[in-house]
Amino acid sequence: MPYYSFLTVLCCFLFLSACSQQPKNKVRVGGSCEGCEAIYESPVPFDALDEVDTLPDFNDPGPRLLIRGVIYEADGKTPAANVILYVYHTNQEGVYPRRGNEKGWARRHGYIRGWVRTNAKGEYRFYTLLPASYPNSTALKHIHPVIKEPGRNEYYIDEFIFDDDPFLKPEERNRLEQRGGNGIVTLRRQGDLLVGIRDIVLGRNIPDYGYTGPLDNTESYVFSRPGVTGSRILQQ
Ligand SMILES: [Fe+2]
Repeated sequence: MPYYSFLTVLCCFLFLSACSQQPKNKVRVGGSCEGCEAIYESPVPFDALDEVDTLPDFNDPGPRLLIRGVIYEADGKTPAANVILYVYHTNQEGVYPRRGNEKGWARRHGYIRGWVRTNAKGEYRFYTLLPASYPNSTALKHIHPVIKEPGRNEYYIDEFIFDDDPFLKPEERNRLEQRGGNGIVTLRRQGDLLVGIRDIVLGRNIPDYGYTGPLDNTESYVFSRPGVTGSRILQQ
């Protein structure tokens, strides 16, 4: 091959290689989501999670909170087992607290976060403190949730917010997307706990939920121990 032809072929090859490195316009269940991949930062493998978690702030001073519920399949009736739910929220000062040695998304989400995996009845629950509103703001108290279910990429659902929040105005209620269903939780006192129940419906008001195309390595995580139950407290 003449030298100039070789150069032409080489240039074409390099150009095509560069093109193939361009990010593809990938369809995602739930649309784009900055930080949803934090769900993969679970300190233990998904298989080792169960339906209960206790977040690291639970023994700090503040209103103790239990959130529980059932995650259902898209039909709204069938309990969805082996669904991972990742949650994170602010502390009693309304900030996402860091200890200084955080890695990955913990630098943004802080250390008050937890992971659960629904049991065979679709149940989940987590213990934490009721978060505070952002400092000097009228922002609602909220807990951010991200869902990962088998066969689909992770996506966010409506935040857990609280029915008695003084900043929750009627117009605010009407603006909610209801992703995964209604995220407004009514709190009831049981002993020293505030208890809120939220059931979640997979795919409800989630764009492109029907997309079941190829997933990347993390997204295609295989749940190998279905139906494992028990309780566990994360020490963080
Ligand atoms: Fe937030």
